[in-house]
Amino acid sequence: MAVGLIGGSGLERLIEGDKSSLVATPYGDVYVVSGEINGVEVFFVSRHGPHHEHPPHRVRYRANLYALKKTGVEKIIATSAVGSLLEEMPPGSLVVIDQFIDFAKRHITYYDDVVVHVDVTRPYCPSMNRVLFEAGRRVKAPVRMGGTYICTEGPRFETPAEIEMFRMLGASVVGMTNVPEVVLAREIAVHYSLLAVVTNYAAGMQSRVSQEEVVEVMSRAEENVKRLLYEALPRIDELSVEDDCILYREYAEKYIMGR
Ligand code: HPA
Repeated sequence: MAVGLIGGSGLERLIEGDKSSLVATPYGDVYVVSGEINGVEVFFVSRHGPHHEHPPHRVRYRANLYALKKTGVEKIIATSAVGSLLEEMPPGSLVVIDQFIDFAKRHITYYDDVVVHVDVTRPYCPSMNRVLFEAGRRVKAPVRMGGTYICTEGPRFETPAEIEMFRMLGASVVGMTNVPEVVLAREIAVHYSLLAVVTNYAAGMQSRVSQEEVVEVMSRAEENVKRLLYEALPRIDELSVEDDCILYREYAEKYIMGR
């Protein structure tokens, strides 16, 4: 069984024998790169589009996940740049996320015209999370197990006052894209984990936050992300996961894929 990947550009370079194809979805066509990583078949979607053309509030969240589901994957590993709210998690750290708080409120769902409420008590797959963390430890990457991702609307960065509030609420990292992505994964019944890459301290913890810094630190962290994924993917592929999606497979088939 193949594994789906969602991330920024750069991850494609890890894929051997990659070829790209356009996958049609009811939400628009999506470029999907397919190939192998360490012997595991993977399908990769670049979250912001192949030319990084969709800003966080306009990412084609539903199309991206639909396209991956259509390839047949049942597990998705995502990577994402985040700002750190914790001194002890400096830029370059990798964080296996286990909770989110939604400050984006984007109202993007597959269940627009039917009443389905998905359970997100455990939004990120606990079994895949463990594998990611253990793989990170094995390759000696600076990885941390567990963290709460607070999602903002973007595309601007935050004010120091917002960051202070987010810290009081219990957030460990801040980003602009993981909600609704993680929720749509549950709705469409695929197991999902997020490896967050800390690219900067959040606003107020350093003199300013810049896009250039995010891009530069992300590309420096790429090597650790790749080593971790190379190690983790064969185990993820074989993993029999704790099934938090079991309730939703039928709904997904009927109301999302069956349209
Ligand atoms: N805030 C929001 N999104 C981000 C940040 C940040 O500080 N760094 C990388 N993505």
